[in-house]
Amino acid sequence: MLKDRIFNFSAGPSMLPVSVLETASSEMLNYKGSGMSVMEMSHRSKVYQSIFDETKADFKRIFNVPDTHEILFMQGGATFQFSAAAMNLMGITGKADYAITGNFSEIAAKEAKKYGVVSIACDTSDRNHTYIPAQEELKLSPDASYFHYCANNTIYGTEWKYIPDTGDVPLVCDMSSNFLSKPVDVSKYGIIYGGVQKNLAPAGMALVIIDKALAGKHLPYTPKIMTYQVAIDKDSMDNTPPCYNIYMLGLMLKWLDSQGGVEGMEKIKSKKAGILYDVLDSSKLFIPVADKAARSDMNVTFRTGNEELDAKFIKAATEAGFVNLKGHRKTGGMRASIYNAMPMEGVEKLADFMQQFEKNN
Ligand SMILES: Cc1ncc(COP(=O)(O)O)c(C=O)c1O
Repeated sequence: MLKDRIFNFSAGPSMLPVSVLETASSEMLNYKGSGMSVMEMSHRSKVYQSIFDETKADFKRIFNVPDTHEILFMQGGATFQFSAAAMNLMGITGKADYAITGNFSEIAAKEAKKYGVVSIACDTSDRNHTYIPAQEELKLSPDASYFHYCANNTIYGTEWKYIPDTGDVPLVCDMSSNFLSKPVDVSKYGIIYGGVQKNLAPAGMALVIIDKALAGKHLPYTPKIMTYQVAIDKDSMDNTPPCYNIYMLGLMLKWLDSQGGVEGMEKIKSKKAGILYDVLDSSKLFIPVADKAARSDMNVTFRTGNEELDAKFIKAATEAGFVNLKGHRKTGGMRASIYNAMPMEGVEKLADFMQQFEKNN
């Protein structure tokens, strides 16, 4: 870690690896002899097309995306996909199932209601979204156009540990906050999407993986810019794509390769999360918020049970160089977001700091 960098536990946008920022910086004024920055390039130029193609190919290889699926780069973040997924798929039967396990899945369901009948497959708000329901608890509609869920609940710190079995009903998954943190069987999904600002790149883009068989079923009034079939046909370039984000994603993917890909990342993230959960489990001061079986390896939520003490901890941590540990305004308490780019050192030092804080308080 560089001397003047701090450990940023932000839920997103969040840390990027120093080596990625250094490469971007070294290529800022003159990308590989082109005499210009990637920011200044035509998206139709040969030099940019090679960045685009390489990024897409690297993503396909690293995340093991089958040939049945297409990778799309779309603007508007994950929120845009709440609408796009519904407008593209709801027309299949006019109905969809939504699992509500947190804030973002609730927003997605609310948006989908504009376009069809939404049936709530589960709702964990009865226990403030501290758990993930078991497969048997999901209320599934065999005639749903799709089943939507959020794989990792950024605010509440819970994560699905299994892929829901919905039979022939396509799975649509918001993977914004645990994308590329572990291998995933992409073939099981109709659509996977996510905002990139946590694990993949700077904010400003969503990455979408879609089973091509599901494209072309959009509602007739779906805006062209939201239509997956158009994005597939135009290889994400019906209009100017988020060029610089795609370039940064490309650098992130090279870095991910150096960490052993998603298999390597799974080991690293499990170890990082384990360090913090061990501190919480052995603490008499800090209380982990999420049920043990549903704990997120990306967003570790905890509190002391005393708001003043929470505030004292957050202030002291900030002064010690651990920033953005304040929990979301909906939950209070603390949240340490430890996405792929958070170094092991940051987690180890935070664990030491928490134990020291406990001794002193
Ligand atoms: C799981 C999840 N879904 C969706 C969103 C919304 O993403 P965006 O801001 O890219 O629209 C977020 C943002 O934090 C998120 O964590």
